[in-house]
Amino acid sequence: MGQVSEALIEPAQVPEGELVGLRLGEDAAAVEVLAQRRGQALSVWLNACPHAGRRLDYAPGRFLQHAGRLVCAAHGAQFELEGGRCVEGPGRGGGLQPLAVRAVAGGWQVAWSPI
Ligand code: FES
Repeated sequence: MGQVSEALIEPAQVPEGELVGLRLGEDAAAVEVLAQRRGQALSVWLNACPHAGRRLDYAPGRFLQHAGRLVCAAHGAQFELEGGRCVEGPGRGGGLQPLAVRAVAGGWQVAWSPI
């Protein structure tokens, strides 16, 4: 098993309900993610579309949404924001890749294995 990287996300970085783009970690271990907070629950996924691996945002940290779903800016795949499942467009049946999230004092600890 490879090395695991971790980073702390603080509540001020993720306003309630907004889709936020973040870069976690440093250098070769860094990952681009999107995060959404609902109350005390934080969801974090890689900012990479399962269809063709492109970034999901149309500009850094700017995400398209339609009818409560995240829309990939490359070819329009649509993802549920509860669970990250792709429900429309190319990549249908796939899903966003979640990162492990653990609530800690001062925010959430997020873990990932560098790619
Ligand atoms: S890369 Fe996202 S829909 Fe094609």
